[in-house]
Amino acid sequence: MGFPKHRPRRLRQTETMRRLVRETRLTIDNLIMPLFVRPGKGIKQPIPSMPGNYQMSVDKLVEEAKVLQGLGIPGIILFGIPEKKDEMGSDAYSDEGIIQKAIIAIKKEVKEMLVITDVCMCEYTSHGHCGFIKRDEKRGQFDVDNDMTLELLAKESVSHVQAGADIVAPSDMMDGRVGVIRDALDEKGFEHIPIMAYSAKYASGFYGPFREAAESTPGFGDRSSYQMDPHNAIESLREVALDIEEGADIVMVKPALSYLDIIRMIKDRFSYPIAAYNVSGEFSIVKAAAEKGWIDEKRVALEILTSIKRAGADMILTYWAKDAALWLKNK
Ligand code: PBG
Repeated sequence: MGFPKHRPRRLRQTETMRRLVRETRLTIDNLIMPLFVRPGKGIKQPIPSMPGNYQMSVDKLVEEAKVLQGLGIPGIILFGIPEKKDEMGSDAYSDEGIIQKAIIAIKKEVKEMLVITDVCMCEYTSHGHCGFIKRDEKRGQFDVDNDMTLELLAKESVSHVQAGADIVAPSDMMDGRVGVIRDALDEKGFEHIPIMAYSAKYASGFYGPFREAAESTPGFGDRSSYQMDPHNAIESLREVALDIEEGADIVMVKPALSYLDIIRMIKDRFSYPIAAYNVSGEFSIVKAAAEKGWIDEKRVALEILTSIKRAGADMILTYWAKDAALWLKNK
């Protein structure tokens, strides 16, 4: 008979056996919840494109942060919708800015929670671009002024940390930003504050719902001159290497799902913690399909988060953080 004498046994027969040999474990410890803060009082305004997410005034934000801390979620990342936007994005680095107020309030009442801030200009500029815009009169074109933007980003980071931020996360993709931010923080005595760099940030269609949530859709043009081309993989290694050289402590890949190969490549080549951003579009397509009854949201969401972890991410920024904390607790 042609049967092999020994054959591999499938260790899948019972849940107990599956538990024993499971390679990837998704836990609450891996999750970071993004939150949106806006001016006002008593406001918790639903974001239509991202069911279950809200633009909250500072008082409501503090309440929510308390709930998340109670669930055991280790960190939140804050996005601000300022009172008014201008060309210079001045609310981003004002000590009276919306994010600064939010950090101070959270730090007073929700002490265990790690507060991460997104360092970028796009939510604060009237044109919605991630940096300072200069006009090339000769060509009649607009362009982001990289070096001018660096100064503003450094100011923004220092102001977030002075308010109490635990980690700053530059998401703008200007060249040299991590180094400039590192120097500015060190100079103010904030050598202990880590930088989570959005290192491999792709120009992606998956940010659509977020731009509605943060009211940051560019008024003209798009972000492809400063964000990465989705066709490129090797380039992400260069971006990560540069950010680490400049002082990044955690490197990020964004979006996550269409870029699992990038996460794995970086994991195999660098020994730094990796964050992955499970972005708004990745969340909203599942929500929409679940609302139609086409898929089981909990099952699909946990499968997605597990796949991001399996690809090599140490932490995941995800709008499912709160739900997943509940799902994982009751499993
Ligand atoms: C930039 C920033 C963006 C996101 C996080 N930080 C938007 C962008 O690059 O246009 C998107 C996150 C998401 O889609 O969930 N400040």
